[in-house]
Amino acid sequence: MPENTITITDNRTGKSYELPVENGTIRALELRQIKTDENDFGLMTYDPGLTNTASCKSNVTVIDGDKGILRYRGYPIEQLAEKGSFLETAYLLMHGDLPQKKELSDWEYDITHHTFIHENVKKFMDGFRYDAHPMGVFVSTIAALSTFYTEAKDIHDSECRQHQIHRLIAKTPTLAAFAFRHMKGMKYAYPDNDLSYTGNFLNMMFKTTEVTYEPDPVLEKALDVLFILHADHEQNCSTSVMRSVGSSGVDPYSAMAAAAAALYGPLHGGANEMVLRMLREIGDVKNIPAYIERVKNREIRLMGFGHRVYKNFDPRAQLIKKVAFEVFDVVGRNPLIDIALELERIALEDDFFISHKLYPNVDFYSGIIYEAMKIPVEMYPVLFAIGRTPGWLAQWQESLVDPDLRIVRPRQIYLGEDKRDYVEVEKR
Ligand code: CMC
Repeated sequence: MPENTITITDNRTGKSYELPVENGTIRALELRQIKTDENDFGLMTYDPGLTNTASCKSNVTVIDGDKGILRYRGYPIEQLAEKGSFLETAYLLMHGDLPQKKELSDWEYDITHHTFIHENVKKFMDGFRYDAHPMGVFVSTIAALSTFYTEAKDIHDSECRQHQIHRLIAKTPTLAAFAFRHMKGMKYAYPDNDLSYTGNFLNMMFKTTEVTYEPDPVLEKALDVLFILHADHEQNCSTSVMRSVGSSGVDPYSAMAAAAAALYGPLHGGANEMVLRMLREIGDVKNIPAYIERVKNREIRLMGFGHRVYKNFDPRAQLIKKVAFEVFDVVGRNPLIDIALELERIALEDDFFISHKLYPNVDFYSGIIYEAMKIPVEMYPVLFAIGRTPGWLAQWQESLVDPDLRIVRPRQIYLGEDKRDYVEVEKR
């Protein structure tokens, strides 16, 4: 019997089937040959939340949840965060290797020279209410970009794809900053091409009357590191959406708007906003034990804790915690850090959290940094989206050149009514 196979015996029929095992998986379609009789549709798997289903093959990012490892194209994120830059990381994710000097400067030039947005975009941004959540504005304007770049539909042309990739990485900070300025009722600040990617973002967010905005180098670096740490995370909810929507053949702006919408949810990228709201609600270290009790009674979840894949620690959270203190040295200590530290300490000693393998995730400390930088909570998922853009695009591009690509279309277990005849409303 070949080694890389598995034998399944169907106790309903007594028949045995030998299925090939490749990369620790069996092809789900192989199960369809397992039938009780000729009319049987064949065996399927039931996997809500896709917790044990590999939906694609990928070379982009790997996570080892037990060891707390996260690598982009093989490079540990700790090294990228310490020595690299966000744009270099974006290049790595897109192209598979770190850039040579000239490749990096060309890439930086291309991104920098696509940061402006069409003036009409400003007009419809103006149409949002003053209190519109910036993530809603962001999702909508990303989708709207597809109406400006109609050639983006040509998704199988690699040159065209590259062009849209430059545009999306370049314009996300502009859209994000404009959404923020709209919320604040402030005049939009245009991109400054002499600044770095994150320096320019800070410029578009905070520039007021100065002729040239000069970003604080520590804050610029901190934001760059945060973007690196958010850049990709294999088949998370929003990335799966990017691949799934992309599988229909739609342009990348529409697919990315869907991915960003998935990120908005409080269980995903919206968690950083919820963490901050939670810390404010706790308000004082003395209120933590009572709050923990409510979590243990399952009244609420501890936001910024837990992860589908990491079961010992989230390496991003550890790095972000370090960045937080670097930022505090410049802008002053955010008092919420004391609540966060104490919450983490108590939770990590508590049986409920230990037995459920619940640890701080990427969202636990990022919000505290953003708040210290005077960025309002509503912007936190938007900042996550800026960081995640290269990851979405790298995974989307990879899916398009994958010979296994098919439109994503799962099956279901139908448990509804059998056929029944329509009855006129008077007779029901
Ligand atoms: N607080 C309290 N209990 C929790 C939490 C939490 N944050 N997370 C999971 N649990 C418990 C849950 O009640 C369940 O307990 P039991 O088995 O006794 O019923 C068990 O742990 C497993 O939870 P699950 O919901 O089945 O786990 P999941 O893998 O489906 O969900 C998660 C992962 C991240 C959605 C979840 O941990 C969560 O809701 N965390 C809070 C929100 C959050 O911080 N999200 C950001 C995730 S990291 C960044 C990102 O991906 O965007």
